[in-house]
Amino acid sequence: MGARAALPRIVSPLGRRAFVVVDPFLATTPAFREAVAALEASGIETHVHTDVLPELPVDSLQASAEAARAVRPDVVIGYGGGSALDASKLVALLLAHGGALPDYYGENAVPGPVLPLVAVPTTAGTGSEVTPVAVVADPARAVKVGISSPYLIPTAALVDPELSAAAPAGVTAHAGIDALVHAVESFTGRPLEPTWSTTPPVFVGRNLLTEPLSLEAIRLIGTSIESAVTHPTDRTAREDMARGSLLAGMAFGPTGTHLSHALQYPIGALTHTPHGLGTGLMLPYVLAACAAAIPEQLALVGQALGVDGSAQVAIRRIADIDRAIGLPHSLQDIGLTREQLPGIAELALGSARLIAITPVPVDAALLERILEAAWSGDLASLLD
Ligand SMILES: NC(=O)c1ccc[n+]([C@@H]2O[C@H](COP(=O)([O-])OP(=O)(O)OC[C@H]3O[C@@H](n4cnc5c(N)ncnc54)[C@H](O)[C@@H]3O)[C@@H](O)[C@H]2O)c1
Ligand SMILES: [Fe+2]
Repeated sequence: MGARAALPRIVSPLGRRAFVVVDPFLATTPAFREAVAALEASGIETHVHTDVLPELPVDSLQASAEAARAVRPDVVIGYGGGSALDASKLVALLLAHGGALPDYYGENAVPGPVLPLVAVPTTAGTGSEVTPVAVVADPARAVKVGISSPYLIPTAALVDPELSAAAPAGVTAHAGIDALVHAVESFTGRPLEPTWSTTPPVFVGRNLLTEPLSLEAIRLIGTSIESAVTHPTDRTAREDMARGSLLAGMAFGPTGTHLSHALQYPIGALTHTPHGLGTGLMLPYVLAACAAAIPEQLALVGQALGVDGSAQVAIRRIADIDRAIGLPHSLQDIGLTREQLPGIAELALGSARLIAITPVPVDAALLERILEAAWSGDLASLLD
């Protein structure tokens, strides 16, 4: 709590001129104005850029990079939710390497370090402050597209739970459940076997270093997400959520996520619903479809959520959390028709890096079975 006071001390060694990419709403808040005043009082010339559009259309990011180029900053600061943080990563990328964002789509296409980058999250959260990925919307593509490179991991992450205290219940719920999905998908993903003599993929699947981080994130978020949504002034809950989402980011940054994310991209594109609403809604169905392959992992997820027993019990606990924080019950409830499900399955299959980490073999038939159950809100049909 209060960690934001460290901002000038963290930024100072990185340069004297800062370009701040900030969510337009948060730019109006007293905490942000104080942060800018503190930077300037430390002799850091601070330029504030508020043109962060929802969904991050590629053209808007190119325009942000142009605005930044005119300032010639030494350091980029991202301040806001996942959208502002992802935008700041991409501005730092374009300032360092030029070109256009499509040049960098996919994994490991960033050729070297980007501009020094400080990330200050105001949601708990995407974990973007510690992850190697940024996600953009390209009108030429049906679903959002990722740029993934270890060079996109911010130089510093400054996580102050007080900044998320004013977030409305919907933002707290959607960002918070996405953090739980990150931790659970990191923990249940397939371990890949990199070829060490060549550049490993950005996302290497579940591994010994990330497992404890995921489990602690699941414990913290499971304990506190309901209270953070329903009692916004609960400081302990905000603190747990900030730490949980940070740990979840540290876990899934190296491992990647899997099917709930692959399915959310087309669902989000069709319904214009928030990222976390879609990943959170899909997670119980995805886990139910994978349960036979990962019973021990799911039992440990259950233990971290405070319920002992089988994979089924863990999955039902996650479904209960979804209900408690007000997520819609089914894909039907967010306006999808049954006829749209095969198209969603086909687009999800295109997310090769997410499919690769899924703990079971994935084909269109499996995805349609998951989507059908989620469409009718019938989790039991996958669990039995
Ligand atoms: N890079 C990654 O690792 C990663 C991971 C997951 C998601 N994402 C991306 O992050 C985005 C979602 O981020 P998000 O869930 O943080 O939401 P967001 O950044 O899109 O913000 C959602 C809304 O919440 C408001 N808001 C944010 N913080 C607030 C606060 N403290 N008080 C009041 N309002 C506040 C914003 O103004 C905005 O209107 C998506 O674009 C998704 O693709 C990135
Ligand atoms: Fe996510």
